[in-house]
Amino acid sequence: MTVGGPAGSSGGFDAQPGARVVITIDGPAASGKSSAAKLLAQRLGIAYVSSGLLYRGATLVALRQGIDVADEGAILALLAEQDVRLHPEAGGNRVTVDWRDVTDELHTDAVDASVSVVAKHPRVRAWVNDRLREMGGSFVIDGRDMGTSVFPGALAKFYLTADPAVRAKRRAGERSTGVEAIATELSRRDERDKRQSVPAADAVVIDTGPLTLVEVVEQVLTAVLRVLPARTVNT
Ligand code: DC
Repeated sequence: MTVGGPAGSSGGFDAQPGARVVITIDGPAASGKSSAAKLLAQRLGIAYVSSGLLYRGATLVALRQGIDVADEGAILALLAEQDVRLHPEAGGNRVTVDWRDVTDELHTDAVDASVSVVAKHPRVRAWVNDRLREMGGSFVIDGRDMGTSVFPGALAKFYLTADPAVRAKRRAGERSTGVEAIATELSRRDERDKRQSVPAADAVVIDTGPLTLVEVVEQVLTAVLRVLPARTVNT
């Protein structure tokens, strides 16, 4: 068993010291991508990175300042003033704003309702993508456009989908809101996100609806092991 270091180290692949491995898992909200990405990262002994948390961090700072989330220039100005950082730690990703941990404030209904408006701004997307490309080491990263735009040269790419009703039910299990309100919110978000949320031409597309998390990760892992030059996997 090999345990990889945090992002910034060369990861858990002892047969190829220094080789960087990036695996992308994209898909719509509540498709199961973050749970799958976390478990896959653990099995491979490398870091897990959530790109959505940076969009959520940008949204939180805008909401806190009472800025109109449609105002791209004002959000960019705030991001230049405040230090919003993603920390891909072993126990889960954390976000700090000026070194204060705000992670617990990133999955509220208010952030859910505004984040896809913030994520539509091209310069906010460029800000997020710059932060992600600065990260060293090996990692599994989830998002919408990781395989298409941000890491087009990733070693392996996946796109997870699920029927909207299945996704709403899953999300309802994580929030206090009822399933119908969540379904409406998800379809609004799908509509706003759809331009940046398409599978890469070379992504493996998996419908997670009929699968358990472990089954999804087994499928992903099988595909990853086919393309990994050499590997040691945590069991
Ligand atoms: O994955 P998530 O639900 O935490 O993402 C939050 C929002 O950020 C979601 O509405 C889509 C957007 N997003 C994006 O546009 N591109 C990404 N790579 C990740 C998230």
